[in-house]
Amino acid sequence: MNPAARDDAGAYGDACAAFYDRIYPPPAPAQVDCLRRLAGDGRALELGIGSGRVAIALADAGVRICGVEASGAMRAELLRRAGALHIPVHAADFAQALPAGPFDLVFALVDTLALLPSREAQQSCLALVAESLTDRGIFLHESCDDGVHASDAPESLHHRVLIDGQTYDYPVRLLPLPPSRLDALAACSGLELHDRWGDWRGTPWSPGSRQSISLYRRERS
Ligand SMILES: C[S@@+](CC[C@H](N)C(=O)[O-])C[C@H]1O[C@@H](n2cnc3c(N)ncnc32)[C@H](O)[C@@H]1O
Repeated sequence: MNPAARDDAGAYGDACAAFYDRIYPPPAPAQVDCLRRLAGDGRALELGIGSGRVAIALADAGVRICGVEASGAMRAELLRRAGALHIPVHAADFAQALPAGPFDLVFALVDTLALLPSREAQQSCLALVAESLTDRGIFLHESCDDGVHASDAPESLHHRVLIDGQTYDYPVRLLPLPPSRLDALAACSGLELHDRWGDWRGTPWSPGSRQSISLYRRERS
C-alpha cells in the first residue's frame, strides 16, 4: 500500500464546510487576475477546490478550471453555490490521484498542502503535480506560513471562530510547508522554482514576508 494512503483526507473540509466562506474572504481582483493570466487559454486544476471560493470567480472569468476535493461536504457546498457552472470536481485525496491532465496551471491556496499529514504525502502530491503539467505549465503554491515551524511532525490544533454571535469549533492538523521545505520537496519531485512573490501583485518575496506565492516549472531534462 502507498505509505501516503489514508481515509481521512476529507476530515478538515467536512468539519468546516458549513461556515468556511464566512472565515475566508472572497478573492481580491489581483488574485483572480493573476491566476487567470497564468492559466491563459489552457486548463487549470485547483488542489482542494473547497466550496469554490476562488474557482467560481475564475470560471466566471472564463478560466477552464477543474478541481480535486476529498471532502464530500465541500463538494456539496460547491455544487450548491455554482452547480450551473459545471466545474468538474474529482473526489480524491490529492496525494493519491489527480484528474487526467495535462494542465497549464495547477495551484494550491492558503496552505492547503499543509493539511497533508506527512512529508511523504506532500512529496507524493508534488510528484503527481509534476507529472500533470504541460511543458510550459506552472505549479503555484500559496502559503501564509512564516517558516517558524521546522518540525516534520504535524501539529494538532483546535480552531475556534465566532460568526454572528455563534461559536464554531473544528480540529485542524497541520504540517506547514515554508518556502525552504517546499523547495526541497519540489526539487525531489522534478519541479524547479521559477519565481516567488510576497503578494498577488508580484512583489518579490523576501525572508520575513508573511505570505509566499511560489511558482514552479517542471525541470527540463
Ligand atoms: C484551506 S481549504 C482551501 C479551499 C479553497 N482552495 C480556497 O482557497 O478557499 C483546503 C481544502 O482542501 C481540501 N483537502 C484537504 N486535504 C485534502 C486532500 N488530501 N485531498 C483532497 N482535498 C483535500 C479540504 O477539504 C479543503 O476543501
